[in-house]
Amino acid sequence: MSNSLPMKDDQRKACIFDLDGVIVDTAKYHFVAWRNLANSLGFDFTEKENEKLKGVSRIDSLNLILEWGGMNFSEKIKADLALNKNEDYLTYIKKMDESEILPNVVGILEELKKLPNYKIGLGSASKNAKLILDQVGLMKYFDFIVDGSMVTNGKPHPEGFLLAASEMDVLPKNCIVFEDAPKGVEAALAAEMFAVGIGREDDLGDAHLVMADFSKTTFEKIEEKLLALV
Ligand code: BG6
Ligand code: MG
Repeated sequence: MSNSLPMKDDQRKACIFDLDGVIVDTAKYHFVAWRNLANSLGFDFTEKENEKLKGVSRIDSLNLILEWGGMNFSEKIKADLALNKNEDYLTYIKKMDESEILPNVVGILEELKKLPNYKIGLGSASKNAKLILDQVGLMKYFDFIVDGSMVTNGKPHPEGFLLAASEMDVLPKNCIVFEDAPKGVEAALAAEMFAVGIGREDDLGDAHLVMADFSKTTFEKIEEKLLALV
């Protein structure tokens, strides 16, 4: 029998990372592929409008884009359009490698891996999440991955983050979510987790903490700032 005491639930903690915009910048590839689709239907949309698609599921993104173009189609045609967009998107994704990992993400993951009470999860709306992590060589860091195919309710619903927490056996209040999308921050707060916004204060002001990216920080500093809030 081991003489080490079992860890109490309350001591287990987790960081749950969003993928697109936090670990890699795939928004530019989503933009190109959605724009190609809009152009093929005879309209266009702007980069500013594209911002509104961050964190939004594939089908909800398509519905928004069609609304901007003043178009509507049957569910069957919409499914085909979403599939075509994804095939186009995947041609960019399949060219990705570790050089596209955002600054100091690996540093933070390495730091977390050394902390025995921390689990590392992914909470992404993307159905391509596993493929992207594999493509950039980051799969090995994650204890549990939630992707867009595992949830019924997209962000801002907390379902994805709550699923990641329960699969890692960590209480929501002991989870820190890293998110670049306002809808993702909303989801983390709805899950009663800590929310760290990655991006601009103007967009992510509801988060407990906001930083432009991970380049000038360490996980130790982030945790210290969050603990100072409780
Ligand atoms: C999110 C992106 O992570 O995933 C959204 O921010 C995207 O822009 C969504 O629409 C779904 O992605 P996918 O890869 O399943 O089409
Ligand atoms: Mg994101």
